[in-house]
Amino acid sequence: MEVDVKKVDAIVDSYGCNRDSLISILQDAQSEYHYLPEDVIRRVATRLRLPLIQVYGVATFFKAFSLKPRGEHLVHVCLGTACHVRGAPAVLDEVKRQLNVEAGETSKDMKFTLETVNCLGACALGPIMVVDGSYHGQMRPGKVRGVLKQYKKGAEGK
Ligand code: FES
Repeated sequence: MEVDVKKVDAIVDSYGCNRDSLISILQDAQSEYHYLPEDVIRRVATRLRLPLIQVYGVATFFKAFSLKPRGEHLVHVCLGTACHVRGAPAVLDEVKRQLNVEAGETSKDMKFTLETVNCLGACALGPIMVVDGSYHGQMRPGKVRGVLKQYKKGAEGK
């Protein structure tokens, strides 16, 4: 992936080139690229004058960061116990079918990445599916298509 270094520089500058803002800088960079390409990590390290290993350390420590390309939209299906007993596996199967991906994969059009999680702390709403941070509770396989459609539309409108 070709990285526009100016965008990375603008993000770093917006935090006053402050090392204490490393996590926020990486979060903003990930919002821009949907993941953290190697060139971005290198540039952030150079600009903040931090050892590359330190920036990699932060990028790999937090699960919210990804070093692999991710889709425009991040879909999480909860497979915690409460969601599981209420039918989460069937919801997950339907999401996989709709997006034609396995958990941990990104759709070919780079629009969606599917991941599973173990309990989001909102068990009463289970089974839960989260898209870009928005919770969709009491999911059923029949509701999956409608939820994904909202995000497909949004992506097309860009
Ligand atoms: S098990 Fe899914 S939110 Fe708790």
